[in-house]
Amino acid sequence: MTDNNIVLRCQNVTVSFGALKAIDDVNYDFATGKVYGLIGPNGAGKTTLLNVLAGRQLQHQGAVLCDGADISRLGANQRARRGIGRSFQITKIYPEMTVAENLRIAAQIKHSRFMPFWIAPRYDRKLADDVDDMLEMTGLTAHRNDLAGAMSYGLQRALELGLTILPQPRILLLDEPLAGIGHHEIEQATRLIRKASEGRTVLLIEHNMDVIMALSEQIVVMSNGRVIAAGTPQQVRTDPLVRSVYLGEE
Ligand SMILES: Nc1ncnc2c1ncn2[C@@H]1O[C@H](COP(=O)(O)OP(=O)(O)OP(=O)(O)O)[C@@H](O)[C@H]1O
Ligand SMILES: [Mg+2]
Repeated sequence: MTDNNIVLRCQNVTVSFGALKAIDDVNYDFATGKVYGLIGPNGAGKTTLLNVLAGRQLQHQGAVLCDGADISRLGANQRARRGIGRSFQITKIYPEMTVAENLRIAAQIKHSRFMPFWIAPRYDRKLADDVDDMLEMTGLTAHRNDLAGAMSYGLQRALELGLTILPQPRILLLDEPLAGIGHHEIEQATRLIRKASEGRTVLLIEHNMDVIMALSEQIVVMSNGRVIAAGTPQQVRTDPLVRSVYLGEE
């Protein structure tokens, strides 16, 4: 991999919580446009690593580079401006607002970055277009006027993904986007994640092995804060170390 292909780089990243090293000297390069599945047992450090990349865990050793520039000191909002978007293990929507209202807020945040609303003549049109695009992409058009909190959990996660995608991040960090989704909605949710991954670099944490193996081009395996293996889904499935620390325990 040439340096030009690397969009995100972890350089000797270590995160300590007291005596515990949640991340222990991780070195890993993420190539532009690839989908990475991050797996590992509970407590392996997956969410912590995503937090480090998203700018939500600034207390760490080592460095995070984006397009070759050290972004270790930048907070989440500054990283979002560089195209890093993330969703959370726990849904972050406004349950008392409608689906369209939720999306409109995300659209306002996106456009306020680029232009102050009072000088933008077609501001409202732009917001409405973004909302409509995301409703269509997430399959939520028929639910646009539903209260977000009253929808099924699966649809709430779809909305959450829409909120994350709306600013068109180049790099998408997804922490267990399928957690809590019922069996009947998994297939649809998987399709949506695949669609959202097109043209982006994606880091996906997911405990559902079938889903993560199907969606990812590269699997990165963590255990005890370390990257213990990485490779294609096929390579990782047959790696004896991975089988013993992770797949074997299932
Ligand atoms: N803010 C914190 N303070 C103290 N310890 C923490 C904190 N956040 C995480 N940890 C610890 O760091 C380790 C890694 O946690 P992390 O949440 O990154 O794991 P994970 O791989 O995402 O696990 P899971 O699959 O259960 O979500 C765990 O031992 C966890 O208890
Ligand atoms: Mg986690």
